[in-house]
Amino acid sequence: MKIVLAYSGGLDTSVCIKWLEEKYDAEVITLTMELGQESGDLREIEEKAKKLGAVKTYSIDAQSEFVENYINPAIWANGLYEGKYPLATALGRPLIGKWMVDIAHKEGADAVAHGSTGKGNDQVRLDVTVKALDPKLKVIAPVRQWPMTREEEINYAREHDIQIPVTVDDPYSYDTNLWGKSAEAGPLEDPMNEPKEACMQLTAPPEQAPDEPHYVSIDFHRGLPVALDEKVVDEVELIKQLNQLAGAHGVGRIDMIEDRLVGIKSRETYECPAATVILEAHKELERLCLTREQNSFKPALDQKWGELVYYGLWYEPLKDDIQSFIENTQKYVTGKVRLKLYKGSCTVVGRESPQSLYDLGLATYDKGDSFDHTSAEGFINIWGLPSRTSGERKKR
Ligand code: ARG
Repeated sequence: MKIVLAYSGGLDTSVCIKWLEEKYDAEVITLTMELGQESGDLREIEEKAKKLGAVKTYSIDAQSEFVENYINPAIWANGLYEGKYPLATALGRPLIGKWMVDIAHKEGADAVAHGSTGKGNDQVRLDVTVKALDPKLKVIAPVRQWPMTREEEINYAREHDIQIPVTVDDPYSYDTNLWGKSAEAGPLEDPMNEPKEACMQLTAPPEQAPDEPHYVSIDFHRGLPVALDEKVVDEVELIKQLNQLAGAHGVGRIDMIEDRLVGIKSRETYECPAATVILEAHKELERLCLTREQNSFKPALDQKWGELVYYGLWYEPLKDDIQSFIENTQKYVTGKVRLKLYKGSCTVVGRESPQSLYDLGLATYDKGDSFDHTSAEGFINIWGLPSRTSGERKKR
């Protein structure tokens, strides 16, 4: 049996290699994906997999693909789950799932495997993605199957000569990519505990951030960021720079109680500096460039899009339908937003656009006013007619 395993190099997936070899007498092929988590040298991870018996190893730098096909639709949709979480992990999983299927086909594998637990959202996202792309391909989730506790797993690793990472004492579980880092477990499981600095890596503590605010500008073209401080940069690079910059000012920390798909409430913290800034700026530009009707209707679809993605339904046809609608709204979302980063806060302080619907002549209270005041009276008479009629009824 040939199995393609999504391999991070960490303890769980390292144990998976040995376990799959033992349990299924399998030839294991590993797939390691770079989505901007910068977890180290991909070659070293491949070496580690080979040492554990992997017959073949792949590593794929999919950062550009991740930005283009996953993060960008999320920017258009102002993608947030339950109004707070920018969906970083939820966006990464369907991409990983897609590559697992591609490599399985290329290698003629019988199954794919991943290290997700049986309590989280990630198993759903990966399993559903694989099944959507190839209903016949078997999915194995060893961590969901084996009855090992953490301690037993560490013992298993010792017995099988699996190098145990120093981070094994770290009580938190992390997941990181370009769009942010999540942390859960350990002391975070008490929702009343303030998150400790130990679980934060991408952001400075706001109280220790610089005393001077930092101003940054982002240019958007059709709803996507194209320049940072007026310098045009590749979007992967733009997101990385913004993670650094906003992170240094303590921007992008999120502490939330989240409703998982599997019915569990969990306490999670996120660090999403770039996502926070880009989404704030994008939302503001939409206010300037979309009509009142678009601005009132679109958030309902944005929310639905985010839920479908969070729930692992990347390939649900409704998601595509909504995405087409959302993409169509973006054709005038072009312009510049200025933001102020200061000790954990990110505030929009200015916006402009060649496609702006803001008309100074109409808005001004000073001279140059072009609004026809005389037409207001007639408009109000008709606009308020239903209220007047029902008011008269009350009097009768
Ligand atoms: N709660 C977030 C989500 O469901 C993050 C999950 C992080 N995954 C992980 N394996 N630590 O998208």
